[in-house]
Amino acid sequence: MGERMRDAEMNPMVRTVASTQSEMTEIILPNDTNMLGNLLGGRLMHFIDLTGAMAAYRHARTHVVTAAMDHIDFIRPVRLGDLVTLKSSVNRAFTSSMEVGVKVWAENTRTGGVVHVASAYLVFVAIDEHGRLQKVPQLLPETADESRRYADALRRRKHREAESARRKEERLATETQGEA
Ligand SMILES: CC(C)(COP(=O)(O)OP(=O)(O)OC[C@H]1O[C@@H](n2cnc3c(N)ncnc32)[C@H](O)[C@@H]1OP(=O)(O)O)[C@@H](O)C(=O)NCCC(=O)NCCS
Repeated sequence: MGERMRDAEMNPMVRTVASTQSEMTEIILPNDTNMLGNLLGGRLMHFIDLTGAMAAYRHARTHVVTAAMDHIDFIRPVRLGDLVTLKSSVNRAFTSSMEVGVKVWAENTRTGGVVHVASAYLVFVAIDEHGRLQKVPQLLPETADESRRYADALRRRKHREAESARRKEERLATETQGEA
């Protein structure tokens, strides 16, 4: 592993998962919540997008845009006054795109209890200042967990591509029906 780590450090076209790890903590204020005092889903998605982008920036070291956000599971509500911590890292890099995983925990400030509240996968695409696609460094998984996420990311990419092709076909069929 030491040898591979040195490769990753010396070759800027290869990066480790650890070098992309990012974290953000927010306190949930009244403006972030609904009438019941629960964090708004859209606000949480915003935090997820930001934390995901941090990992993508650390990997690509160029501009990145969010291409897709999928598999968000809102497991438990987050309450007004809770501290929300989000952690992200790149799961796999492809040509110009990267899949990033984000995990979210809420901490009750009075009891100190911490619960896992949400998880999400996002795809970011690297571009230059003119919007042209940029090639990203490859990712080197080093641990068993990182290797599992690396393999799963390819499966999810194939699933996303199949879903996208299916939606495109549906759109074309609807348009053709409209013309008939
Ligand atoms: C993301 C974007 C740059 C892709 O551009 P494009 O010309 O469609 O690029 P391509 O079809 O050649 O795909 C380029 C890469 O993006 C990936 N990609 C494109 N659309 C995707 C999607 N919906 N989901 C996942 N990946 C996607 C492709 O798989 C490809 O990855 P690879 O280079 O690693 O193989 C373009 O669609 C865009 O600018 N979207 C808006 C982004 C934005 O504004 N985000 C904020 C949301 S408000």
